[in-house]
Amino acid sequence: MSRRVFIASGANTTFIGKGHPDFIWKKHPDFGKRENPTLRELLTEAVNAAAAAINADLSLVDRGYIGNFVAELFVNQGHLGAALAGVHPALAHKPTMRVEGACASGGLAMICGVDALRAGSDVVLVTGVEVQTTQSARVGGDYLARAADYERQRPLDDFTFPALFARRMRAYREAYGVSEADIGLAAVKAYKNANKNPKAHMVARQMSLAEASAASDFNPNFLGNAELAPYLKVSDCSQVSDGASAMILASEEGLKKLGVRLEDSVEILGFGHSTDSLYVDGDLTVFNNTADAARKAYAAAGVRPEDVQVAEVHDCFTVAELLMVEALGFAERGGAAALYRDGVVDIDGRLPVNTGGGLVGFGHPVGATGVKQAVEIFRQMRGQCGAYQVPSAPRIGLSANMGGDDKTSVVTLYKSLA
Ligand code: CAA
Repeated sequence: MSRRVFIASGANTTFIGKGHPDFIWKKHPDFGKRENPTLRELLTEAVNAAAAAINADLSLVDRGYIGNFVAELFVNQGHLGAALAGVHPALAHKPTMRVEGACASGGLAMICGVDALRAGSDVVLVTGVEVQTTQSARVGGDYLARAADYERQRPLDDFTFPALFARRMRAYREAYGVSEADIGLAAVKAYKNANKNPKAHMVARQMSLAEASAASDFNPNFLGNAELAPYLKVSDCSQVSDGASAMILASEEGLKKLGVRLEDSVEILGFGHSTDSLYVDGDLTVFNNTADAARKAYAAAGVRPEDVQVAEVHDCFTVAELLMVEALGFAERGGAAALYRDGVVDIDGRLPVNTGGGLVGFGHPVGATGVKQAVEIFRQMRGQCGAYQVPSAPRIGLSANMGGDDKTSVVTLYKSLA
């Protein structure tokens, strides 16, 4: 029997970037007077907020993990284990390390934390952070392309990942007769949920179905690759965001040390982790690697897809959310759009998905995302989500974090103990 693992606390910073009212750029009234938060500031804020929420003494931390993809490129900073050890005096000399798996870096940091607890640690700090707004979206597109098979896939487009998912969008829509408006429903939900979430990058940007269903000057088909361009608009894309997330994981003994009651925590029932070859692309109409991670996660947790009552899934692009919904067993292949048309995945639906806006609405600071997803499940189960709180007090939750084009997948199942 492996040891039980619990989330004792979790916190996210605001995710900001272009389009967020507080983001400093040349037309912002504070331009020249104030700077956007640094990686160090974001990480410190998230760790302190997670600790403050339960009055945690950080000297109790046995190990620390930090998920991050490419801080070396965006902010000229590597060696992030030492950055984590530097955010609070109590963390100095703790064993901390950075974990990297592209956009699944945060999910991998979390499962490292789970493994450490199962191996005997009692309190583990799991964090994720990314700062990306130091560069234009076009330069960022090149940096993020390092999560693809760079030599083979970089020539697709300056915006390599958007192009890879435009390719999936084309394949998926053609295979199942899914319309642009069907896909637009996912964007509308993402923005509608983000509008209710004060920490979301897109808190102030509205998105109507008409706008999400056809390209316009405000929502262009922006790819340079002429064949793929018609299949992707800006509204289909996750945001280039800065942000950090942190959570404190604990064993039963750890909860006691922290002074957190079992019924105020959320149990991590199990996870599945699968990785597929960077060098080969399979069927573009399905996330086979995520489906494999999901099978492992359901088996480890003793849970079925129909038991899940709230989910955070990796919508790096709108079509990815539909492919996730199918890979996780919530819909048949090609059948996800019906869940959007029928409101099943809305905040007040039977299976709320990405209640805070997901990567499209909440934002996607890539190394933070996997941790943010777990924090969001925790917050929903603890009733902390304010205007986007699901009304049904969910007992079983799921998160699915993905690196690259379905190459690294971490699916995790959670149970509320309230
Ligand atoms: N008409 C035509 N073209 C236009 C236009 C208009 N009205 N407005 C903009 N464009 C074009 C321009 O060519 C512009 O580029 P340049 O300014 O360099 O010429 C381009 O679109 C982008 O415009 P902006 O830079 O103004 O766009 P933005 O800053 O608003 O960014 C975005 C929009 C490009 C979609 C950006 O949000 C983005 O890149 N999102 C995706 C981020 C991403 O890929 N994240 C990783 C996800 S993949 C994953 O999660 C897995 C993993 O492991 C990586």
